[in-house]
Amino acid sequence: MRHKIMSICFMLTVIGGGSMAIVRAQPEDSTQQAAVLVVYYSRDGHTHTVAESLAKKFNADLERLIDTKNRSGAAGTSSAGKDAYAGALTLLEPLRHDPQRYDVILIGTPGWFGNVTPAVRTFIKENSLAGKKIGLFGTVNLTGIESALAQAAKLIAGDAGGKIPTLPLRKRDLKDDVLAQKIDRFFTEFNRADAAATQRAGTAADAAQ
Ligand SMILES: Cc1cc2nc3c(=O)[nH]c(=O)nc-3n(C[C@H](O)[C@H](O)[C@H](O)COP(=O)(O)O)c2cc1C
Repeated sequence: MRHKIMSICFMLTVIGGGSMAIVRAQPEDSTQQAAVLVVYYSRDGHTHTVAESLAKKFNADLERLIDTKNRSGAAGTSSAGKDAYAGALTLLEPLRHDPQRYDVILIGTPGWFGNVTPAVRTFIKENSLAGKKIGLFGTVNLTGIESALAQAAKLIAGDAGGKIPTLPLRKRDLKDDVLAQKIDRFFTEFNRADAAATQRAGTAADAAQ
């Protein structure tokens, strides 16, 4: 009898040990890489260059926003500035990627007189970003990118927008070596940023819409 009880205890220990091994395996599964999408608008190609480099660094998919309104030539440039200043929305071509499938979304815009472009404003307005970790990047020739990104952050997260990591760039930052350095630093800071705070920011944006 004593022998039988000891055998049962032995079996339970083996089975228990086996199930513990399964439990220990779970954290490895949960370390799968987050899905990252880089969404951006670029009229003249500068923000596009940055978006491509970011996508390589973050191993991300790329979604270039296409504004159906003509933004080229003198008339297009003039209405672009006016629309950005007025906070106008626009009509975008359909997206190729579903933002809801991504955990992390990096959003990029040129600065137009210190404002976010209508294309990016429209993307933010039309897509729920709740529960996502957000980063912002953008380019200008010289001035106004900080205010454009702050505006985008506020659209996304209201008063919590200041917590969203940003990568503001000027034309002089787009040289290969400088850009690579800035992107490396942004990557490190972004991964250090408080994901929970950013997610709360996304939720706040949803409430604001
Ligand atoms: C309507 C409009 C307004 C702009 N306003 C500014 C500005 O206020 N400050 C600045 O330095 N560059 C300004 N620019 C230049 C762009 O921000 C800059 O060239 C940017 O890198 C363009 O990005 P893209 O090449 O991705 O379109 C403006 C360009 C346009 C078309």
